[in-house]
Amino acid sequence: MRPIKIAPSILAYDLGNLKEGLDIASRGGADQLHLDVIDGRFAPNITFGPGTVKALRPRTKMKFDTHLMIAEPRTYVERFIEAGSDLLTVHAEVLDPALFDVLHSVIRSRGKEMGLALKPETQLPMWAEERLDKLSALLLLTVNPGFSGQTMDVTVFPKLEKLSRLVAEKGLDLDLEVDGGIDEQNVSEVARRGGNVFVAGAGVYSRPDPVKAIGELSRRALAVRGGS
Ligand code: DX5
Ligand code: ZN
Repeated sequence: MRPIKIAPSILAYDLGNLKEGLDIASRGGADQLHLDVIDGRFAPNITFGPGTVKALRPRTKMKFDTHLMIAEPRTYVERFIEAGSDLLTVHAEVLDPALFDVLHSVIRSRGKEMGLALKPETQLPMWAEERLDKLSALLLLTVNPGFSGQTMDVTVFPKLEKLSRLVAEKGLDLDLEVDGGIDEQNVSEVARRGGNVFVAGAGVYSRPDPVKAIGELSRRALAVRGGS
């Protein structure tokens, strides 16, 4: 069974003090740090770029899960690899099969992992289904890309269940990462439907004790596996 992992989304922390946000994730025992890169074109916000990833890199060995909400991943993917990203997740909406193959070869040739993200209304394209074995993660957005602190869109659940079945049928070692509006109330529901990587921005950083909140999300997701 794919392991449960918690990925705090640092976009929800004080953007002037990201190192502290990273330290909170480390102290909470987070499995990976989720870094939301938004370019003002793919989604209506601008966050940070490779320079920020590079500045954070020396502080931790934690996996850097870089969610590239950008219109031109081919132009920037190498810069994020050089900055220290471990998982590079690109959006299906800006790809075609040929571009996917180019990005995959760039990412794998540098020994990094590739993820594919889908906006809430986007279904997995056939060309991507045929390439699932090349991916380390499928990211299902459960909010519109752009901002932390939105409410989870539960209409994505049938897609999550369908993809979870597909991954099991194909016997793939692929993380199903769910991103947007996850909190202590809904994390079990997401785990029950097959998610195993839980991105949480506000669900961690807006809590009175963010370090504890990470542990609580993990505990509740794991409890589903135990049958409780
Ligand atoms: C949305 C981002 C999410 C977001 C998660 O564009 O991809 O990662 O920051 O934050 P919460 O958990 O607050 O929805
Ligand atoms: Zn994200």
